[in-house]
Amino acid sequence: MDLTNKTILVVGGATGIGSATARICAMQGAKVIIADYNEAAGAETAAAAGAMYVPVNVADENSVKALFARIAEQYDHLDVLIQTAGVLKGAYVPVEEFSLETFTNVVDINATGSFLCTKYAVPMIKKAGGGAIILISSVAAIGVSSSVAYGASKGSVSSLGVTLANKLAEDNIRVNVVHPGGIKTNMKLSVIGAEAETRGQSGEQAIAQAAAGAELGEPEGVGKILAWLASDEAEYVRGFLFTR
Ligand SMILES: NC(=O)c1ccc[n+]([C@@H]2O[C@H](COP(=O)([O-])OP(=O)(O)OC[C@H]3O[C@@H](n4cnc5c(N)ncnc54)[C@H](O)[C@@H]3O)[C@@H](O)[C@H]2O)c1
Repeated sequence: MDLTNKTILVVGGATGIGSATARICAMQGAKVIIADYNEAAGAETAAAAGAMYVPVNVADENSVKALFARIAEQYDHLDVLIQTAGVLKGAYVPVEEFSLETFTNVVDINATGSFLCTKYAVPMIKKAGGGAIILISSVAAIGVSSSVAYGASKGSVSSLGVTLANKLAEDNIRVNVVHPGGIKTNMKLSVIGAEAETRGQSGEQAIAQAAAGAELGEPEGVGKILAWLASDEAEYVRGFLFTR
């Protein structure tokens, strides 16, 4: 895959799947921008990848607007948006005890955040004459979720993605929604720890076991697919993809 001369924004690129994706895109020749609200990890990943780092809170429209204004100072257009920022909260909390505050917070980051990043990315991708948008949903979108809010938010991301795929086709912008399975990141490992604790077992031990084992996929595995989807080789791919 060749990403030379492509300008690629990886939102949520500080850690996990986003960080792996940003590094792979940079290695393949792309000009990469990492946006994330984790400033320490964002700056560190960007420095290692030779990328630009911009802080953002995807749930806040003014912050997203400021992110794209900052990108526009540096680049005249954007070729690809890869939106990986997300949170998982409320794992194993029964629906009748689930707080509205947690539900809204998860939806604001995962679903509204994907909408806001797309809203401001589209004008910059149109300036390039077209490009790609890649959203990250989850198998949680189809019922496999430990959290009521996370499942609902990811269902929304998937539906947003297919809606956009139809609406943006005429602008030569292809949209894909990637649904990873279990991947070895802080997000997934902390859920494994929480699950072990619901069974009265040590969360720390469960996390160490999962991190050392082969059952979960590696962030780079998904990162390679996201980077490939950003390339011209993926020009005929549309819609939903499920990964390990
Ligand atoms: N790890 C898995 O098993 C798995 C499976 C399916 C889907 N996913 C999805 O993959 C994506 C990446 O997750 P990950 O597993 O790499 O976890 P991660 O926690 O390492 O990455 C999430 C990133 O999003 C950033 N982020 C969170 N809230 C933000 C906000 N409001 N504004 C800006 N940035 C914010 C975090 O700082 C972090 O860098 C998420 O959307 C997640 O839901 C993960």
